[in-house]
Amino acid sequence: MRRGCLAYSPEPGGAEVVLLAADPPGRGAGSALLAALEVLGRTRGWQRLRLLATNDNTPALRFYQRRGWDLIALHRDAVTRDRRLKPEIPAVGHGGIPLRHALELERRLVPEEEP
Ligand SMILES: CC(C)(COP(=O)(O)OP(=O)(O)OC[C@H]1O[C@@H](n2cnc3c(N)ncnc32)[C@H](O)[C@@H]1OP(=O)(O)O)[C@@H](O)C(=O)NCCC(=O)NCCS
Repeated sequence: MRRGCLAYSPEPGGAEVVLLAADPPGRGAGSALLAALEVLGRTRGWQRLRLLATNDNTPALRFYQRRGWDLIALHRDAVTRDRRLKPEIPAVGHGGIPLRHALELERRLVPEEEP
């Protein structure tokens, strides 16, 4: 059995993915949920999806970029600031990488307009 959970928050022009998790990982639940959200977004005329991933989460950064998502911003020390409010956020994350920044990724659902 494969299970997963995706939560999104509508915003102007599309939606932000606020949670994506698969259990167990690696059985296709994450890909299927993202694909379903893309279908929903195109049906609703959304222009893009967006999400934040932490700098340590190299498996997720690989996962998204291989599925058409692109890096659009680095929010330096965003996690460091969050930690001041939530001291339970660990200092070290996946693979022993210091957990400090947030990376913003975007999935275009329609081509970007020329400037
Ligand atoms: C990232 C995540 C949502 C991907 O969903 P998934 O169902 O495991 O992924 P799928 O089975 O659809 O696809 C497998 C791909 O995920 C990658 N992957 C990422 N993390 C993985 C993990 N912990 N275990 C297995 N595969 C993982 C595989 O490398 C594979 O990539 P490829 O097909 O490009 O080679 C899921 O692994 C997960 O829940 N990770 C922990 C929570 C998390 O980091 N969420 C994202 C926060 S921004």
